[in-house]
Amino acid sequence: MATKPTILIVDDDPVQLNTVVSLLQKSYNCVPTTNGQMALKYLEAHTADIMLLDYNMPVMTGIEVLKQMQETEHAASIPVIFLTGVDDTEGEVSALRQGAVDYIVKPIRPAVLLTRVKNQLELAEHRRDLEYAIAERTEDLWRANERLKKREDATLHLLARITDMRDEDTGGHILRTTGYTEIIVKYLRADPNPPAGYEMSEEEAQSIIKCAQLHDLGKIAIPDSILLKPAKLTVEEFEVIKKHPIYGEHFFADFIKSDSEDPFLETAREITYSHHEKWNGTGYPLGIAGQAIPLSGRIVAVADVYDALVSERPYKKPFSHEKAAEIITSDSGKHFDPHLVEIFIAHQDEFIEVSKITDTSPKNEFAFSR
Ligand SMILES: [Fe+2]
Repeated sequence: MATKPTILIVDDDPVQLNTVVSLLQKSYNCVPTTNGQMALKYLEAHTADIMLLDYNMPVMTGIEVLKQMQETEHAASIPVIFLTGVDDTEGEVSALRQGAVDYIVKPIRPAVLLTRVKNQLELAEHRRDLEYAIAERTEDLWRANERLKKREDATLHLLARITDMRDEDTGGHILRTTGYTEIIVKYLRADPNPPAGYEMSEEEAQSIIKCAQLHDLGKIAIPDSILLKPAKLTVEEFEVIKKHPIYGEHFFADFIKSDSEDPFLETAREITYSHHEKWNGTGYPLGIAGQAIPLSGRIVAVADVYDALVSERPYKKPFSHEKAAEIITSDSGKHFDPHLVEIFIAHQDEFIEVSKITDTSPKNEFAFSR
């Protein structure tokens, strides 16, 4: 058998209180109280499905009781019907504005009271069902969003790995470049008064960190004969290599045409085309300078070059961190953004830690066993 709904009744007039209880007790579990404090005390340990609240009471008025209920999480959702001895339009409007669901003028007409209580209980039940359905749907959407985010991360990493497998480095370049980028972004974000042009939202920061791994995506379009050439490149061959930022830009530009609102794709496009630009305008492919180079591209430029310097390559031994730091510092304002070089110098210990990351996947085995 279903439990009867509980009705909390508050009226300082015992005769009125008994009248209401006798009308309702057949169908409902009635909790009679004679003042607001008693009702609020009851609600500290219990709940009610609906409340019938006398409007005019000494010490604490019905409106004051309602206001206090609305300040507590567990009582705020209980529907309140006011009972009043005065047919007062202003009072009725005030009660309804305060959040009461209904307003009944005494003397009580039994059929009206029973119908209004029944209607409000049904409405409250519908509201609860709706809130439950919304909460369930919200949870489903959150889960689906988390799944999509994981899939997005996996897709980005997969693209980066495909690019990396065709390149000349000895593994871990993607992980380390992302790590160096994360350090610079972290300290840019931590600056409470960043210089003009270095402000960054958390969303932009996360986009730059995620997209850093795609900076060389355009190398997919460079022929193996040039990309994997074990000897020094000719001038013509190097001109072909220099096209990889433009190829990368084209990949993302195509996506952006179909989804121009997505700032994430825009960040990926910026990084791919601008990570070989130089602060003094002598970089490629566009030869742009200073803050005309997107901040994301300037950050990845520092991260990418530092990793190339401290890593072993088929044509060179790794430089020590000290030597790499010396090269980057001497290129501040020439190749690199001076503000980003300052961050690099101030937090070089963290760069040294990231430089120890190696990729243990069998990349080179796949890449060179064809
Ligand atoms: Fe590159």
